[in-house]
Amino acid sequence: MKLAVFASGNGSNFQAIAEAVAAGIIDAEITLLFCDKKDAYVVQRAKSMLIPVISFSPNDFASKAMYEAEILHLLEEEQIDLVILAGYMRIIGPTLLEVFSNRMINIHPSLLPNFPGLHGIRDAFSANVSETGVTIHYVDDGVDTGPIIAQEKVEIKETDSLDSLEKKIHKVEHKLYPNVLAKLIKNQQGESHS
Ligand code: GRF
Repeated sequence: MKLAVFASGNGSNFQAIAEAVAAGIIDAEITLLFCDKKDAYVVQRAKSMLIPVISFSPNDFASKAMYEAEILHLLEEEQIDLVILAGYMRIIGPTLLEVFSNRMINIHPSLLPNFPGLHGIRDAFSANVSETGVTIHYVDDGVDTGPIIAQEKVEIKETDSLDSLEKKIHKVEHKLYPNVLAKLIKNQQGESHS
Protein backbone atom coordinates (compact mmCIF):
# COMPACT_ATOMS: atom_id res chain seq x y z
CA MET A 1 0.00 0.00 0.00
CA LYS A 2 1.53 3.27 -1.13
CA LEU A 3 0.62 6.49 0.65
CA ALA A 4 1.06 10.11 -0.34
CA VAL A 5 0.72 12.64 2.47
CA PHE A 6 -0.30 16.21 1.59
CA ALA A 7 0.60 18.96 4.09
CA SER A 8 1.14 22.71 4.09
CA GLY A 9 2.56 23.66 7.46
CA ASN A 10 4.02 22.35 10.68
CA GLY A 11 3.59 18.66 9.93
CA SER A 12 3.13 17.18 13.39
CA ASN A 13 0.45 14.84 12.04
CA PHE A 14 2.68 13.89 9.13
CA GLN A 15 5.38 13.00 11.66
CA ALA A 16 3.01 10.92 13.80
CA ILE A 17 1.95 8.95 10.72
CA ALA A 18 5.51 8.54 9.48
CA GLU A 19 6.59 7.25 12.90
CA ALA A 20 3.72 4.75 12.91
CA VAL A 21 4.81 3.54 9.48
CA ALA A 22 8.42 3.24 10.64
CA ALA A 23 7.30 1.29 13.72
CA GLY A 24 5.28 -1.13 11.58
CA ILE A 25 1.98 -0.01 13.14
CA ILE A 26 0.76 1.13 9.73
CA ASP A 27 1.44 -1.54 7.11
CA ALA A 28 2.25 0.79 4.22
CA GLU A 29 4.96 3.02 2.85
CA ILE A 30 4.91 6.80 2.60
CA THR A 31 6.00 7.13 -1.00
CA LEU A 32 6.02 10.90 -0.93
CA LEU A 33 5.12 14.06 0.90
CA PHE A 34 3.49 16.66 -1.27
CA CYS A 35 3.73 20.20 0.07
CA ASP A 36 2.34 23.32 -1.60
CA LYS A 37 4.72 25.56 0.39
CA LYS A 38 8.37 24.77 -0.08
CA ASP A 39 9.44 26.53 3.13
CA ALA A 40 6.97 24.73 5.40
CA TYR A 41 8.45 22.97 8.41
CA VAL A 42 6.90 19.66 7.29
CA VAL A 43 9.43 19.58 4.44
CA GLN A 44 12.29 19.46 6.94
CA ARG A 45 10.56 16.75 8.91
CA ALA A 46 10.19 14.60 5.79
CA LYS A 47 13.78 15.17 4.70
CA SER A 48 15.12 14.17 8.09
CA MET A 49 13.07 10.97 7.87
CA LEU A 50 14.35 10.36 4.31
CA ILE A 51 10.87 10.58 2.84
CA PRO A 52 10.83 12.03 -0.71
CA VAL A 53 9.36 15.52 -0.90
CA ILE A 54 7.63 17.07 -3.88
CA SER A 55 6.78 20.72 -3.59
CA PHE A 56 5.22 23.24 -5.90
CA SER A 57 2.62 25.94 -5.57
CA PRO A 58 -0.62 26.62 -7.44
CA ASN A 59 0.91 30.04 -8.19
CA ASP A 60 3.27 28.25 -10.59
CA PHE A 61 0.31 27.22 -12.76
CA ALA A 62 -2.21 29.05 -14.93
CA SER A 63 -5.16 27.41 -13.15
CA LYS A 64 -6.07 25.20 -10.21
CA ALA A 65 -7.04 22.45 -12.65
CA MET A 66 -3.54 22.51 -14.15
CA TYR A 67 -1.94 22.49 -10.69
CA GLU A 68 -4.02 19.48 -9.69
CA ALA A 69 -3.40 17.73 -13.02
CA GLU A 70 0.33 17.89 -12.25
CA ILE A 71 -0.27 16.40 -8.79
CA LEU A 72 -2.50 13.71 -10.28
CA HIS A 73 0.16 12.81 -12.80
CA LEU A 74 2.62 12.35 -9.94
CA LEU A 75 0.23 10.20 -7.93
CA GLU A 76 -0.48 7.99 -10.92
CA GLU A 77 3.17 7.71 -11.85
CA GLU A 78 3.98 6.57 -8.32
CA GLN A 79 0.90 4.31 -8.21
CA ILE A 80 -0.34 5.89 -5.00
CA ASP A 81 -3.19 3.95 -3.36
CA LEU A 82 -4.25 6.41 -0.67
CA VAL A 83 -3.87 10.16 -0.18
CA ILE A 84 -3.64 11.38 3.40
CA LEU A 85 -4.34 15.06 4.01
CA ALA A 86 -2.56 16.25 7.15
CA GLY A 87 -2.94 19.99 7.45
CA TYR A 88 -3.14 20.54 3.68
CA MET A 89 -4.73 23.98 3.63
CA ARG A 90 -6.45 23.85 0.25
CA ILE A 91 -9.78 22.67 -1.01
CA ILE A 92 -9.43 19.65 -3.26
CA GLY A 93 -10.85 20.38 -6.72
CA PRO A 94 -12.62 18.10 -9.19
CA THR A 95 -9.43 17.13 -11.07
CA LEU A 96 -8.09 15.22 -8.07
CA LEU A 97 -11.42 14.25 -6.56
CA GLU A 98 -12.74 12.48 -9.63
CA VAL A 99 -9.90 9.99 -9.39
CA PHE A 100 -9.26 9.87 -5.63
CA SER A 101 -12.59 10.62 -3.93
CA ASN A 102 -12.89 7.34 -2.04
CA ARG A 103 -9.13 7.14 -1.53
CA MET A 104 -8.51 10.50 0.11
CA ILE A 105 -8.71 11.06 3.87
CA ASN A 106 -8.56 14.20 5.99
CA ILE A 107 -8.24 15.07 9.67
CA HIS A 108 -10.16 17.99 11.14
CA PRO A 109 -9.80 19.39 14.67
CA SER A 110 -13.46 19.45 15.71
CA LEU A 111 -16.41 17.12 16.03
CA LEU A 112 -17.81 17.54 12.53
CA PRO A 113 -20.32 18.66 11.38
CA ASN A 114 -19.64 21.27 14.07
CA PHE A 115 -16.98 23.91 13.41
CA PRO A 116 -15.77 23.09 9.89
CA GLY A 117 -13.29 25.37 8.13
CA LEU A 118 -9.94 26.90 8.89
CA HIS A 119 -10.34 27.55 12.62
CA GLY A 120 -12.02 24.47 14.07
CA ILE A 121 -10.30 24.67 17.46
CA ARG A 122 -10.68 28.41 17.95
CA ASP A 123 -14.31 28.40 16.82
CA ALA A 124 -15.24 25.68 19.31
CA PHE A 125 -13.38 27.50 22.09
CA SER A 126 -15.12 30.80 21.31
CA ALA A 127 -18.52 29.11 21.19
CA ASN A 128 -18.15 28.07 24.85
CA VAL A 129 -19.17 24.47 24.20
CA SER A 130 -18.17 21.88 26.77
CA GLU A 131 -16.71 19.41 24.31
CA THR A 132 -15.09 19.36 20.91
CA GLY A 133 -12.76 16.79 19.37
CA VAL A 134 -11.16 15.35 16.28
CA THR A 135 -12.71 13.88 13.14
CA ILE A 136 -11.18 11.67 10.45
CA HIS A 137 -13.22 11.64 7.26
CA TYR A 138 -13.18 10.93 3.54
CA VAL A 139 -12.79 14.00 1.36
CA ASP A 140 -15.63 15.21 -0.81
CA ASP A 141 -16.20 18.48 -2.67
CA GLY A 142 -17.35 20.42 0.40
CA VAL A 143 -15.32 21.95 3.23
CA ASP A 144 -14.92 19.20 5.86
CA THR A 145 -18.18 17.52 4.83
CA GLY A 146 -17.17 14.04 3.63
CA PRO A 147 -18.27 10.72 5.19
CA ILE A 148 -16.97 10.35 8.74
CA ILE A 149 -14.64 7.43 9.51
CA ALA A 150 -13.86 8.10 13.20
CA GLN A 151 -14.25 10.74 15.90
CA GLU A 152 -12.84 11.27 19.36
CA LYS A 153 -14.18 13.73 21.90
CA VAL A 154 -12.08 16.23 23.84
CA GLU A 155 -13.55 17.93 26.90
CA ILE A 156 -13.26 21.72 27.19
CA LYS A 157 -12.87 22.56 30.89
CA GLU A 158 -13.56 25.92 32.52
CA THR A 159 -9.83 26.16 33.16
CA ASP A 160 -8.81 25.57 29.54
CA SER A 161 -7.23 28.34 27.49
CA LEU A 162 -7.16 28.24 23.69
CA ASP A 163 -3.56 27.16 23.99
CA SER A 164 -4.25 24.27 26.36
CA LEU A 165 -7.17 23.15 24.20
CA GLU A 166 -4.96 23.18 21.10
CA LYS A 167 -2.43 21.00 22.90
CA LYS A 168 -5.10 18.51 23.96
CA ILE A 169 -6.55 18.33 20.44
CA HIS A 170 -3.16 17.77 18.83
CA LYS A 171 -2.34 15.04 21.32
CA VAL A 172 -5.53 13.22 20.35
CA GLU A 173 -4.85 13.78 16.64
CA HIS A 174 -1.39 12.25 16.84
CA LYS A 175 -2.82 9.01 18.23
CA LEU A 176 -6.13 8.85 16.42
CA TYR A 177 -4.90 9.46 12.86
CA PRO A 178 -2.21 6.73 12.83
CA ASN A 179 -4.54 4.27 14.58
CA VAL A 180 -7.43 4.87 12.20
CA LEU A 181 -5.13 4.59 9.19
CA ALA A 182 -3.60 1.38 10.53
CA LYS A 183 -7.06 -0.19 10.88
CA LEU A 184 -8.36 1.06 7.57
CA ILE A 185 -5.31 -0.20 5.67
CA LYS A 186 -5.43 -3.54 7.46
CA ASN A 187 -9.08 -3.94 6.51
CA GLN A 188 -8.42 -3.02 2.89
CA GLN A 189 -5.57 -5.48 2.68
CA GLY A 190 -7.80 -8.16 4.18
CA GLU A 191 -10.42 -7.46 1.54
CA SER A 192 -7.96 -7.57 -1.35
CA HIS A 193 -6.59 -10.94 -0.16
CA SER A 194 -9.96 -12.64 0.25
C1 GRF B 1 -4.29 19.83 12.46
O1 GRF B 1 -4.92 20.41 13.57
C2 GRF B 1 -5.28 19.21 11.54
O2 GRF B 1 -6.40 18.70 12.18
C3 GRF B 1 -5.68 20.36 10.66
O3 GRF B 1 -4.50 21.09 10.47
C4 GRF B 1 -3.64 20.89 11.59
C5 GRF B 1 -2.30 20.46 11.03
O4 GRF B 1 -1.30 20.41 12.02
N1 GRF B 1 -6.29 19.88 9.44
P1 GRF B 1 0.11 19.77 11.66
O5 GRF B 1 0.65 20.52 10.44
O6 GRF B 1 -0.08 18.32 11.37
O7 GRF B 1 0.98 19.99 12.87
